[in-house]
Amino acid sequence: MSEGCVASSEGRLAEEFAVPAQVEEVKGRMAAFAARHAGEGRRVVLVTSGGTKVPLESRTVRFLDNFSSGRRGASSAEYFLGAGYAVIFLHRHRSLYPYTRRYAGVNLLDALTVSTEGETQGPAETQGGSSTRVLVDQRALPDIASVLQRYQAVKEGGLLLPVEFSTLSDYLHLLKAAAQALNAIGSKAMFYLAAAVSDFYIPASEMPEHKIQSSNGPLQISMKMVPKMLSPLVCEWSPLAFVISFKLETDGEILLARARKALDTYRHQAVVANVLDSRRGYVVIVTKTDTQELRVTDEEDRAGAEIEQRIVDALTSAHTHFITQQQA
Ligand code: PMT
Repeated sequence: MSEGCVASSEGRLAEEFAVPAQVEEVKGRMAAFAARHAGEGRRVVLVTSGGTKVPLESRTVRFLDNFSSGRRGASSAEYFLGAGYAVIFLHRHRSLYPYTRRYAGVNLLDALTVSTEGETQGPAETQGGSSTRVLVDQRALPDIASVLQRYQAVKEGGLLLPVEFSTLSDYLHLLKAAAQALNAIGSKAMFYLAAAVSDFYIPASEMPEHKIQSSNGPLQISMKMVPKMLSPLVCEWSPLAFVISFKLETDGEILLARARKALDTYRHQAVVANVLDSRRGYVVIVTKTDTQELRVTDEEDRAGAEIEQRIVDALTSAHTHFITQQQA
């Protein structure tokens, strides 16, 4: 265990959270991905993204969820790819995804039209044959050609490894597997923990098996604290990596104090602090020695600027500095 580390609650992870069936296979894929890219001189970032679902019943009808759309994780993943990183994208099932996130609200069928070559000579039934073309309305899918080209280049280069989670248990075990897999590449690994992870859960042993009956009257539930993953990640699973956590508050008054407390407690490299309502336009990157405010004004926002580009630029520079220090 690294110097300054407190004993982690890793044991609880194994005992209290169901291990997803595919975790060893996914860990193998993440390790191979990291080894290949580090071998080719690339850095690798694990981006976590989206919220977590906490079941209230074993045969789950109801669960607790949170607001996170996954936009921050998905857009940051794109900017890391643009900066030359290989990206493991650990994301909530159906949350926003790199590249397609830009068109999340679009009804695809409204953006496409069918054009049949020689349409005037042939009956409608020829549609679906080899002469059928689907045309894209680029006003409905802005920048689609360049986004598609970037997506295809990333796919052909094998630069993006998507890994999905649904429940809190999935997330916790897959994060551990990713951290252990990335340990082999030392300081070339970055963790960018943008997912909004539940702090509370009901242990399997205390959960009702069947649907909670409303005929029993108002519901009272008692939830336990989820063990903080930052502690074993930094101390045991990937102690040489460059680790960035996020801090979300609704009260801006306490934001910086909470971010500094997290840095003191977990001894990782930086916290990206944000307030729920202003998170698209303002964040503060807090390190042991510095605080850096990043902003996107409304005008910049209208022109297409995204704060994630600024966050990723700042962190990739800090990562370079970190690697140089580790090698010195
Ligand atoms: O997805 P969007 O809608 O774009 O929103 C982006 C965001 C607001 C979700 C993102 O910017 C953000 O702030 N994510 C972190 C939210 C959060 O869970 O904050 P927290 O203060 O509760 O947790 C702090 C850190 O502890 C997080 O980095 C988390 O990964 C980590 N954590 C949390 C729980 C847990 N059991 N173990 C952990 O290590």
